[in-house]
Amino acid sequence: MMRPLDPAQFLNAETYARTRLPVEYASTLIPDAYTMAEFYALEQERVFANSWVPVCVTDEVRTPGEFKVVEVAGRSIIVTRNTAGELRAHHNVCRHRGSRLCEGAGRVERFFQCPYHAWAYDLDGACLGTPLFTADSRVPVEQRAAFDMADVKAFDRNEMGLYPVRVSEWGCLVFVCLAAETPPLADQLGDLPARLNGYRLSEFRLARRVEYQIQADWKLIAENFMEYYHLPWVHPALVKVSPMDAHYRWQGPGMYVGFCTTPIAANTDDGGWKGLPAIAGLNAVDGVSARFAWVFPNVAVNVLPNHVVFLLAQPAGSGRTTEVAYLLTHPESEALSADPAGDTDGLLEFWDSVNKEDIAIVELVQDGLRNPAYAGGRMCYRFEESIHRFQNMLIDRILGVGTLPPGDDAETVRMFGPRNAAAT
Ligand code: FES
Ligand SMILES: [Fe+2]
Repeated sequence: MMRPLDPAQFLNAETYARTRLPVEYASTLIPDAYTMAEFYALEQERVFANSWVPVCVTDEVRTPGEFKVVEVAGRSIIVTRNTAGELRAHHNVCRHRGSRLCEGAGRVERFFQCPYHAWAYDLDGACLGTPLFTADSRVPVEQRAAFDMADVKAFDRNEMGLYPVRVSEWGCLVFVCLAAETPPLADQLGDLPARLNGYRLSEFRLARRVEYQIQADWKLIAENFMEYYHLPWVHPALVKVSPMDAHYRWQGPGMYVGFCTTPIAANTDDGGWKGLPAIAGLNAVDGVSARFAWVFPNVAVNVLPNHVVFLLAQPAGSGRTTEVAYLLTHPESEALSADPAGDTDGLLEFWDSVNKEDIAIVELVQDGLRNPAYAGGRMCYRFEESIHRFQNMLIDRILGVGTLPPGDDAETVRMFGPRNAAAT
């Protein structure tokens, strides 16, 4: 296959034929999918504008009026809660002449007000006034008559509300979806919420948040996350305590790639996943397992008995990603710890060091993929079944195919032992 491909070929099913093969025979996704601006633009529309996309954690928009401005497929969106505490999301664009309403994150009392001509919108997006004369209005009292719009023709402010966006939450993650026809979030997540039910995810609170600017496509971060093939070389300290045969595939039907390690790796001198006490009430298996899932399209969900980490890989342009790491802890664990802040910092340091090892390697891959001599590689089935599942979900979206990936028959399947042997 000559590179670069003609972008018209990105919508041709033949282009992906080698990745569509059963994993034993398959090759990786076309390299141009990671390097070409045309593919990035297509993917923004066909994947990100069509899927439930995680945008923040519940704690960032917990109370009425608290808001966070997020971006999905190039659209700026305000996520907030109305006065009843229900999640709401709207396009961040004024219905008058289209200014953005707000930036960043914060809290409004009752409404969002446009910085341009002061149109105001309540927390449900309804247009309140045009403009609104509040006590702190900047319109001098003697000039207010000039702004009276009582005689405006064919204007109904009830039709001038902010454009709504679908919003939903699971556990402590908030998702938005730009497309009206996409099935509900529950369909995308499949059986993952049921599998993680014992961990009481909605009770976890945000403890730390770190951002990384990565010079690599978001898919490389996803693919790196979901394979343990690289462990001995990229994470020499981790593999000593997290042996390959402790890894199991752990996935049912749904748009996610799941695996777990049982038992959880012990801590080393460089720290580890233990430290903060575990929550109470976990069953015998959950209590000794680390659950990892890449939820399509772009978030790693890492659930351990004593903490939760989300890694949001937000596309920031062709070959660039902003990764946001959220570390969440449970009030029960904090109460049981003699030094909750120290324990939490210890967890963060460990995740940060592993993550930096991963970032360095995916940036090398991005550089390698830019070389047109490379035409894609063969998948190594035992190690890269997860990547095969992920890349086929992505191709489905690009081609507009609505398949829901099936799961394994057994709850856990060994990843690196004898093939397909159920866990004992
Ligand atoms: S553009 Fe928002 S009030 Fe004019
Ligand atoms: Fe890694």
